[in-house]
Amino acid sequence: MADPQTVSLDRMGPVLVAIVDNPPVNALSHSVRAGLLAALDTFESSPQFKALVILCVGRTFVAGADIREFNQPLREPRLGVVIDRLDKCRKPVLAAMHGTALGGGLEVALACSYRLATADAQFGLPEVKLGLLPGSGGIVRLPRLVGLDLALTMISGGDRIGSAQALEYGLIDRIADGDLSDAALAFAQEIVDAGGAIRRTSDLPFPAVDAAALAASRAALARKYRGLEAPQLAVDLIEMAATTPFAEAAEKEYAACKALIASPQSKALRHLFAAERAAGKIDGIPAETRPRDIRKVAVVGPGTMGRGIAACLLDAGLPVTLIGKDDETLAAGVAGIRRLYDSSIKRGSLTEAARDERLARLTPTTSYDGLGDVDLTIEAVVEELDTKKLVFSRLDAALPARAIIASNTSFLDIEALAGAVGRPQNVAGMHFFNPANVMKLLENVRGAATAPDVLVTLMDMGRKLRKLPVLVGRSEGFVANRMLSKRTREAQFLLQDGATPQQVDRVLTRFGFPIGPFALADMAGMDIMAATRAARLARMSPREQGCSIVDELVAAGRLGQKTGAGYYRYGDDRKPEPDPAVDELLARHRAARGIARREIGDDEILERCLYAMVNEAEQILDDRAAARPGDIDVIWPSGFGWPKYLGGPMFWADQIGLGTIKAALDKYAGIVGAEYFTSAALIERLARDGRGFFG
Ligand code: COA
Repeated sequence: MADPQTVSLDRMGPVLVAIVDNPPVNALSHSVRAGLLAALDTFESSPQFKALVILCVGRTFVAGADIREFNQPLREPRLGVVIDRLDKCRKPVLAAMHGTALGGGLEVALACSYRLATADAQFGLPEVKLGLLPGSGGIVRLPRLVGLDLALTMISGGDRIGSAQALEYGLIDRIADGDLSDAALAFAQEIVDAGGAIRRTSDLPFPAVDAAALAASRAALARKYRGLEAPQLAVDLIEMAATTPFAEAAEKEYAACKALIASPQSKALRHLFAAERAAGKIDGIPAETRPRDIRKVAVVGPGTMGRGIAACLLDAGLPVTLIGKDDETLAAGVAGIRRLYDSSIKRGSLTEAARDERLARLTPTTSYDGLGDVDLTIEAVVEELDTKKLVFSRLDAALPARAIIASNTSFLDIEALAGAVGRPQNVAGMHFFNPANVMKLLENVRGAATAPDVLVTLMDMGRKLRKLPVLVGRSEGFVANRMLSKRTREAQFLLQDGATPQQVDRVLTRFGFPIGPFALADMAGMDIMAATRAARLARMSPREQGCSIVDELVAAGRLGQKTGAGYYRYGDDRKPEPDPAVDELLARHRAARGIARREIGDDEILERCLYAMVNEAEQILDDRAAARPGDIDVIWPSGFGWPKYLGGPMFWADQIGLGTIKAALDKYAGIVGAEYFTSAALIERLARDGRGFFG
């Protein structure tokens, strides 16, 4: 198929303008690369043109390589060829940037003689976030322009900067006043009038490399991007570029990037990039459905979740009414929100003025009167159906008919709540994760009657709250907690069978989770874990009901970190230390049930914990509680710290091979029990056909 025409030329006297138009983000698809080369041909072969301007239409300047092309064979010209021509061009080229000049887009600009941008433009080399490196001169050029420190954070950290900082550090020459294309033409004319000087970034000296700065950067990156190869490689390449001639360093940069395109980590991260965007789309509703206007929100319940939810609504600039059942709980709620902000101030991420402005938009009340202008209410009261139903019916009476009532319930049935009001079409779930003002995941729950524009509104709201919203269906625990409950079950059974908390935690952190399930339980508090267990007890299998280790820890006063002991014991440094008292408790637990302890291998721990989740995920897809396997992949990294470089549980399962997983499920059905490990129908079918969740 012929390429679309994505680069056109405008002749403005002595200035030739190359206009890139490749929606949605002007990515450097093959047609853009070829179009830019053709523009350079015209420019260089036409003496009447004294300057070339590269300008983009639409929402942004070039936002990078075309990620979709990474999975296909490379079509020449590769970007490096275009960049090389720009660098060697004997007449001045000006990049005129707006929106986000990212990745290859910034590399194009770095190879131009001059750079101009709108005041709100942003610049970055985010490749490491996709497990990649800049491969077309970003590493060899950026430090020459902006110095080592900023280049390190932009290249290895993937950080973006705005126009003011870009101007200060010499990344851009000028911020455009008014219309960008007018400003670009005026600037180009100025350059021509001044003699048309060429400025090559490649001619600048590479800044001195400070070994201490590199070491500090490596250490910070190891924390920020745990387990990810690309950021560390980026530092290696910056170090290399400092002592290597430009052309040779540029070749090495390209070779490193090319190798990473084929790496499992990058494939996984690119999969997640696409899955995150696909998760925002709702199947089966009219394409023209628009979100409702949400100007004012009420949160019911000033407990831990309600506070976090209110804080993130305030962060998004909304006025928030916080409803509490009495003055005392309300005052505690407001004080809690203030504390959240105070800790941000301590960390340096918020100013006192910003805190005060947010708190001024908070209206605490114990009354349901005065909700006549509220567009959305999020209920976050205690997880008891009757209490929630009562709150829903009070809200129904107080709110305007158009207002949406959402529940933050983590396992109750949305239908039961929708049944309590006269507007089931305006009822849905908004399931936040604790701490709600920090965690990225938001499960928006679709009820049987939820109106399409309500769904679109809640997804839009999630994005405005800077969350990753995923639409899920009715199902106990929705998606994240439903899968987690299987991991929790297996972790408990493994303790019964003979593993120790530290062994299970070690296996799962080595896999890539930031924290193991038992250290996490100690942080959450054993009383909370016991309450969750009690709420689910009636629906548990006999073995699960009898697996009461959590209750035994509570009975022993071991509530976790807050009492200095839980699955681990804690000193002043709050580091979890294995505790012989827990070994004894587990030994008593086994003895009382006649369970003989056996040595459990690390593989068994990993497989039982994670394959049980994958198997449940398939059931979730069958139940239509998740629309696509990719949605599940988005949920786990943002909700429970699944290592992003493994792409999410479904992608990971595909890499293992569903045949291998099916064989392991069969094995554990024999060891643990068929009721826990019978492989789901889809896994059976896909494994038989030699396929995976993604083809
Ligand atoms: N290549 C191909 N498609 C891209 C793309 C790229 N580099 N960057 C974004 N897109 C697509 C998205 O898939 C999405 O497509 P869809 O509408 O079919 O879902 C669309 O552009 C809009 O992207 P989205 O992220 O939803 O919009 P946004 O306004 O929130 O963010 C960006 C825009 C450019 C900031 C963001 O998309 C981004 O960070 N892109 C990646 C940039 C990058 O990593 N470049 C280096 C690549 S090596």
